[in-house]
Amino acid sequence: MSEISKLNILVVGSGGREHALVQKCLQSPLAGKVIAAPGNGGMASEVECFNLCVEDIPALVELAQEQNIGLVVVGPEVPLSLGLVDALAAVGIPAYGPNKDGAQLESSKAFCKDFFARHNIPTAAYGTFTEVEPALAYLEEHPAPIVIKASGLAAGKGVIMAETQEEAVAAVKDMLEGDAFGSSGKEIVIEETLYGEEASIHVIASGEHFVCLPPSQDHKRVGEGDTGLNTGGMGAYTPTSKVTPEMQAEIEEQVIKPTLAGLKADGIDYRGTLYAGLMLTDKGVKVLEYNVRFGDPETQVLLPMVADDLVPVLLASAKGEALPAKLQYHEGAAIVIVLAAGGYPGSYAKGQEITFPATLPASSAIVHAGTSRDIDGTIRTAGGRVLGVSGQAPTLQAAVDLAYSVCDQVEFQDKYLRRDIGHRELNR
Ligand SMILES: Nc1ncnc2c1ncn2[C@@H]1O[C@H](COP(=O)(O)OP(=O)(O)O)[C@@H](O)[C@H]1O
Ligand SMILES: [Mg+2]
Repeated sequence: MSEISKLNILVVGSGGREHALVQKCLQSPLAGKVIAAPGNGGMASEVECFNLCVEDIPALVELAQEQNIGLVVVGPEVPLSLGLVDALAAVGIPAYGPNKDGAQLESSKAFCKDFFARHNIPTAAYGTFTEVEPALAYLEEHPAPIVIKASGLAAGKGVIMAETQEEAVAAVKDMLEGDAFGSSGKEIVIEETLYGEEASIHVIASGEHFVCLPPSQDHKRVGEGDTGLNTGGMGAYTPTSKVTPEMQAEIEEQVIKPTLAGLKADGIDYRGTLYAGLMLTDKGVKVLEYNVRFGDPETQVLLPMVADDLVPVLLASAKGEALPAKLQYHEGAAIVIVLAAGGYPGSYAKGQEITFPATLPASSAIVHAGTSRDIDGTIRTAGGRVLGVSGQAPTLQAAVDLAYSVCDQVEFQDKYLRRDIGHRELNR
């Protein structure tokens, strides 16, 4: 890694992931000024926030130039898919995250599946379609249960797990003929249903260099026992013993290395996070999808586990330089529990005042996701996922106990949380 002096850092985004990134950057001895755009109530209590839309690429570039930023860390997928990193590169500002070409791994599931096929990366059998008739013919040959996916970005809502043929046919028609998911559903992927437990692997990549973060599991469903509607994520923990050291080696050899080599062969200099959503089947590991940024809420457990300064690693990735072979991690486990506004992921109230404990126990943290801050410092709810409460401890059970004790000291009207985050690991 190159010698670097103090670095001004801009974090782009407004969720718990970005708050965790801001906090990690603030801990770095290399960090000069840290700012966020647009940020949220929690970030506003710690750094200067600029109220820009993450889709406004020219405004973000201008902000980075005006503020003499030496590293932009891009949180969400949308600005990546709109080419924020390319636009910053054009004015000489290093940015952590893939360029627009690389971001297609997430912004087009059809692109991603074809990429898997081209480079022999294990995944579910599939077809991609833009027309109804061939899609229905495919369903005839591959009857339900089957999975129908809107190819484009759909904020985690574009996947239909069809149990019956009728549901499958309806999903195809709703996307291709109707307006379900808008332009994101005008191309679809139909794929085989896989069975097993899911896990995520986050990789920080710089061309063919990469460093793996510990395996994690999230909890997408709103209800306890993984029931009810899908959400952005109600909690996560790391590590998961489900990913054994042998499986980790298999993932690196059969998934990560061929992916980075394949991207290079396809002319994509991939930099930033590569987040593999995996199904651990009894026929081996299969990739469900790639995301091209850190997971939310996984970031809130992964970053606190990193003992090393992350800023030089993010900067090296942004510049396409070599990465350290390994990062140092804290021992033990980490958990994050999302405190949501009652009603989420349906409609919910905003603007409720939040009260916090006066002090936090050691090794716990509160990260803000959907909050706003009044001029007098009052923090209010401003989104469905409001806060993330994290805990780190020598064992997952101790981390769970720590985090839930803090959850019970945070109050706002209609606070909702799942009480069973980490249940799979705790019950092994
Ligand atoms: N082929 C599949 N077999 C079984 N479950 C799947 C399959 N594809 C997706 N899923 C389920 O749907 C969820 C969302 O699918 P994913 O491909 O990760 O899309 P996104 O995160 O963009 O919504 C996965 O986490 C998994 O639970
Ligand atoms: Mg997913």
